[in-house]
Formats: sequence, C-alpha cells, structure tokens
Amino acid sequence: MKALSVVPLQAGSAALTDMEEPPVGDGPILVETLAVGICGTDIEILSGAYGWSPPGRERLVLGHESLGRVLDAPGDGPIAPGDLVVGIVRRPDPVPCTSCAVLEWDFCRNGQYTERGIKEHDGYLSERYRITPDFVVKVDPQLGTLGVLLEPTSVVAKAWEEVDRIGGRAHWEPRTVLVTGAGPIGLLAALLGVQRNLEVHVLDRMGEGVKPDLVRALGATYHSGRIGDLGFSPDVVIECTGVSSVILDAMTNIGVGGVMCLTGVSSGGHQINFDEGALNRSMVLENVAVVGSVNANRRHYEAAALALAAADREWLSRLITRRVPLAQWTDALTRSDDDVKVIIEVQPEKAVTT
Ligand code: BGC
Repeated sequence: MKALSVVPLQAGSAALTDMEEPPVGDGPILVETLAVGICGTDIEILSGAYGWSPPGRERLVLGHESLGRVLDAPGDGPIAPGDLVVGIVRRPDPVPCTSCAVLEWDFCRNGQYTERGIKEHDGYLSERYRITPDFVVKVDPQLGTLGVLLEPTSVVAKAWEEVDRIGGRAHWEPRTVLVTGAGPIGLLAALLGVQRNLEVHVLDRMGEGVKPDLVRALGATYHSGRIGDLGFSPDVVIECTGVSSVILDAMTNIGVGGVMCLTGVSSGGHQINFDEGALNRSMVLENVAVVGSVNANRRHYEAAALALAAADREWLSRLITRRVPLAQWTDALTRSDDDVKVIIEVQPEKAVTT
C-alpha cells in the first residue's frame, strides 16, 4: 500500500512510497484511510523541525488528523465494518505514569507517550491502518468527509474543558470570549464558544476574506488590530496563534477573574520587552488564570464528535478550503492566506459526501 513518510528532523525527506500492509499486531480493526488533514505540526515535521521515528526505524508515516472507513472489525465490538472512524493520536506511556494509568494520556507526566504520525508511532497517512478499539472514535455518518475535523476539534474541546473547570473555581458566569487566530483551531474554538451561548469575538491579521466571512457566518464578531482597542475585557481567551505579542496583549487585557487558555505552539527564539511586574500585578489583583493545553484524551474526542454533529454542516464544509488527492500531496503543503484546512484525500474515488 502507499504511505507518505518522512525521516524526522530531515527537511525535504518526505516521500510517497510503497510499504507492507499494516501488521495484525497493530490491532484487530482494519481501516481504509479516506482523508487526512494537514496542520502546523505536519508542516513543522516536514520542515525537519519536529517528529520522532519509531524505534529502530528511519522513517515515520505522517498523518494524525484522520478519517477512515472500517473494513474489518471483531464481531462482538462497538465498531463495525462500514463505520466512519477517527483514530486517536496519543498512546499512553508504557510505565505508565499516574495520568496515563487513568487514560489521561494528554497529561502524560514522563514524556514517554507516543503519538501517531508525530512521535515514535506511524501515522494515518497510509492507504490502510490497524488499530485497537480503545483508540478509535465513531463519527456521525452524516458528517462524511467533515469527520476529518474531529481531531482538531478534540484539541479545542479539551481547551474548553480546561476553561470550564478553572472558571468553576469560583462563581463563574462568563459572557464574552476572545479567540486569537482564525485558523482551523481558532475557528473551531469559536464554534464551541457559540455552542456555549457566549458572545464570541475572533481576532486575526486578515482584513477580509474567507476567515472574517466564516467568523461572521457563525454569528461571532471579527476583529483585526490590537486587543487593547477591542473596547471590552474578555472573560475567556482561547489563544490560537502562539505569537508572543498577541499572547501578552491578551494576558494584559483579559477581564477580572478571566481564564486564558494557550493552545498555539510558539517556535521560540523571539524575545520581546515587557513589564513583568505590571503583568504579575494585574494577574494577582484580578485573579487571572492562564493555562496551557495540548492534545486530547478519549473524553475530548467524544465531546468533539457531539460538537461536530450539532454544528451547521455547510459552515463546517467551508473550513475545508482545499482537497488534494494523495498522488499530488506536495500541493497540500503550500498554504495561502485564505486556506483554512487543507486535506489529503487518500482514496479520492471513494470520497464520502458531506
Ligand atoms: C496534535 C496533538 C499533539 C501536538 C503535539 C498537535 O498538532 O493535534 O495531538 O499532541 O501536536 O505533538
């Protein structure tokens, strides 16, 4: 079968090659991959800046935002042939640490977790893969190809869970949310904010185009410019840019008792001057909480599956701005300002309708 793989930390090493069928040892469920989403992490891996190959191997199969159709599954389980499914990204560490022991691998404490398509475990960008039932999540069949948005939605479902739980430390009646960044993660975070009946504001650099249109179509308000000029102090901030100046701007302008969740990964190496004392003072005197959030466990995938099933499918389909057939995979790696989510269709001739 065909698979797209890289030599981690080696830029330009990506190649579409033939490889063996997935080993039975990977699990009793056999899935044919339909589509895989490309995100910033994939671009980082492709540029040679991130990623780990499986032990004893040179190459890592890419792909962690997947959608597939079950070809074969044990007769007595909850997953049946024909089901549309998504594979979970992270696997618990083998020790396991106290978090992985209770299946909260997204909080792995010793760093020995593995991640499909990212860290020491082949991803889903192959024509077929095998998996065990605990790591597959069923997708509402009505979603069709839109099910490929489940993994990024699981990441924001976790971020929202963090915000809800931390907000619940005291009386908590949030009204306004600011999402910084209108990429796929930002737009999905905005969707979940709207689903919580909050007044959602999204800030990005673009003056016009697909992103502002998508924000408005959600019933949210779009802004470009500085957070200090918004005219209000948000109760919640979901930070999806990883850009230092935006992060600090948001930390200084969040409302009293506000909760800010960081989801964007900064590249590091940038230094900016800021008044640490003033930041500390306002965070303490205003009970501000800032939390980082990565990855997602099964509970978050399930919350994400419900959120997608409840969303407007026409709006979701506008998030997928390009669909590239596997044979033309290199086209999926270039991004324009108007690209939101680019997906690779692994079996274009079998594409499921949305
Ligand atoms: C993935 C997460 C993963 C993180 C760090 C993200 O792109 O969505 O599942 O934990 O990268 O590797």
